[in-house]
Amino acid sequence: MSSYISSSSNNRTKHDPNDPYGGELRNRFRFWDEVIRGIKNDPATGNLPLIVKLSVIEDASALRPWRPKGNTMEESIQVAKWSEEAGADAIHVSSGDIFPHPRNPAGYLNTRILKETYARLRTRGKYSRLNFWLFNYLPFIPRLAWERRLRDRLYASFWHYLLGKRPEPDSGDAAWRNLQGQLAESSRQIKVNLKQAKVLCTGAWQTLGPIQAGLQNGDFDMVTSARTWMANPTMPGKLVEASKMGEKDLEPKRPCTMCNNCLMAAAVHRASCQDETRFLPGSREEQREIMRHGTAKQREEMWRAAKDFMLAADKLLYTRKPGDKNCSPSV
Ligand SMILES: Cc1cc2nc3c(=O)[nH]c(=O)nc-3n(C[C@H](O)[C@H](O)[C@H](O)COP(=O)(O)O)c2cc1C
Ligand code: SF4
Repeated sequence: MSSYISSSSNNRTKHDPNDPYGGELRNRFRFWDEVIRGIKNDPATGNLPLIVKLSVIEDASALRPWRPKGNTMEESIQVAKWSEEAGADAIHVSSGDIFPHPRNPAGYLNTRILKETYARLRTRGKYSRLNFWLFNYLPFIPRLAWERRLRDRLYASFWHYLLGKRPEPDSGDAAWRNLQGQLAESSRQIKVNLKQAKVLCTGAWQTLGPIQAGLQNGDFDMVTSARTWMANPTMPGKLVEASKMGEKDLEPKRPCTMCNNCLMAAAVHRASCQDETRFLPGSREEQREIMRHGTAKQREEMWRAAKDFMLAADKLLYTRKPGDKNCSPSV
């Protein structure tokens, strides 16, 4: 759906200058409008909270410099407003015009893992062979291209970026600290332009202090997490508890390092943390097993955290229609 909105990828008027779904922003929004209203006007789905994930910073030229940059923040604000008018209950602020994109999930590129992944995928897909070749023989090119945009947040200096020398995860320069909350300001800009729809913010959230600060400033109403939750499935629950106890900050003992190994291996492994540096030394087989499937306890904790998140999201978003019979959390 994002490719309809995008001024970079929606080139429908090139083929037909009168295409009602291309050209100016109002037209590019037409498909979204129909989908949102379609869901909200259908009695079967109208009462469910509808969250629209919107790439507010497209940065379409990040990996393909020959392309236009994509939508501006002003255009994204307008899309958010129209989405609310059409019936969206929340805007989930994200970035990047494609998935994956150097801005989301923001972090490093591990060409060793990509080499293994593409060794399995190379007979499938249009660019798989090319990717396999690139990750095998010229791995520094895709790494530098991917890490270029957020270089200052990933490395202590330009030379470290060139050499791929990552800061230690427990240092002040660690990428996970610098990337946390990188969409907070964009979320704020969206939020001040909405009437009552909620704003969810994605991007490396894993410590209490910055989350609380953003909530208190009114930058967003909720944060979402993917890798940080995979890395520490019990952390969302701990953050909520610590917040209830009035604590000012809480950090995971072994934070998600933003290595993106899970992403690089996603096509061939189940979703689980793939950063071996985070695991306590054990037998290679045992580590592999954990990385493939997670431990039973981790899986259980992940499901519990997912359920808690859904309940919290239900509670937050249903406040728009408190009298509605179907408003009780449905998870
Ligand atoms: C393996 C993996 C798969 C993902 N798949 C999707 C997806 O299908 N749709 C989507 O909107 N975001 C997807 N994301 C992005 C996450 O939803 C999230 O926005 C992003 O990872 C930033 O949050 P984090 O820093 O907590 O990981 C994925 C992320 C990862 C790591
Ligand atoms: S592999 Fe683990 S540490 Fe690395 S980004 Fe994924 S969840 Fe975080």
